Amino acid sequence: MSALLSVKDLGVTFRTREGDVPAVREVSFDLAPGEILGLVGESGSGKSTLLTALTRMLPRNARVDAGHLGFDGADLTKLREDGMRKLRGDRIGLIPQRPMTSLSPVTPVGRQLRWHLDGLDEGGRLKELLTGVGLGGVLDRLDGYPYEFSGGQLQRLLIAVAAIGKQPDLLLADEPTTTLDATVQAQVLRLLLDLRDRIGSAMIFVSHDLGVISQVSDRIGVMYAGRLVELAPAAELFEAPRHPYTRALLDAMPSRHRRGEPLRTIPGTVTGANRLAGCPFAPRCASVVERCHEENPEVRTVGESLVRCHVAEATR
Ligand SMILES: Nc1ncnc2c1ncn2[C@@H]1O[C@H](COP(=O)(O)OP(=O)(O)O)[C@@H](O)[C@H]1O
Ligand SMILES: [Mg+2]
Repeated sequence: MSALLSVKDLGVTFRTREGDVPAVREVSFDLAPGEILGLVGESGSGKSTLLTALTRMLPRNARVDAGHLGFDGADLTKLREDGMRKLRGDRIGLIPQRPMTSLSPVTPVGRQLRWHLDGLDEGGRLKELLTGVGLGGVLDRLDGYPYEFSGGQLQRLLIAVAAIGKQPDLLLADEPTTTLDATVQAQVLRLLLDLRDRIGSAMIFVSHDLGVISQVSDRIGVMYAGRLVELAPAAELFEAPRHPYTRALLDAMPSRHRRGEPLRTIPGTVTGANRLAGCPFAPRCASVVERCHEENPEVRTVGESLVRCHVAEATR
């Protein structure tokens, strides 16, 4: 099947007073219609920047370099702003990481729902929308302002709008369940899977939690210091992780953790890693060799994975 989304060599750099911050580097991947790609990586690895770049809603200090950003035949880098706005309204939905920033604090929540979903009928559809995300209880409170709702409720409202309301061809979900408790989280994950099955929406689902990612993803991409360091079918990633960083993430998962053992974490931080000459993970890598300090690895195919690592085969 031909790709719905095709990203080639995407780079995003933020200009700041302290200098340029390369947030996303040389990222390439395809997404098929109806496919769910999970993106995982620790805080600061560029996940939100990548999703935001796909909607062209980056702040003004961001510079985008992209070989190609194809969406269903259109090149998103060349589309005029009105065309892009139409795509965002109809076909590409974003569930942002911080719900508060995308709601107006001075307008009742119900009115904002109506802005986003024109022709919404109060009786049937709104009720269906809200009960779908476990919010049936707030139907009679929709004349309230955002501050009168909890963060979790607002997050679910935005999920309802972006997912069920718009039924987009491509849904970009940025940590959509991070602020939710376990029960609601499970409900939202089911809802997203149901949306894919009924509507055929493709999704990029971002989380720093591999456990959550594994419940919804067909393929999983692992980001480190702005780069996609591994991309593999979900089962493959868990059974045969190729990148030392992927293995470290798997080892740090609570479900793999045996009771009584100290919880493993990955030593070091990602800070500044993308300024290094060699592999950005080298300073934290358990399998590092001389070459890793000199040369940043290109993408290679190992088994069913695409991986950026000099020693990916050798370290199974
Ligand atoms: N508006 C901005 N201005 C400058 N730097 C930014 C901005 N937004 C994000 N960054 C930087 O870009 C990098 C990636 O951030 P982000 O995409 O938010 O990562 P993630 O979503 O994986 O936590 C970080 O180093 C972050 O500090
Ligand atoms: Mg983020």
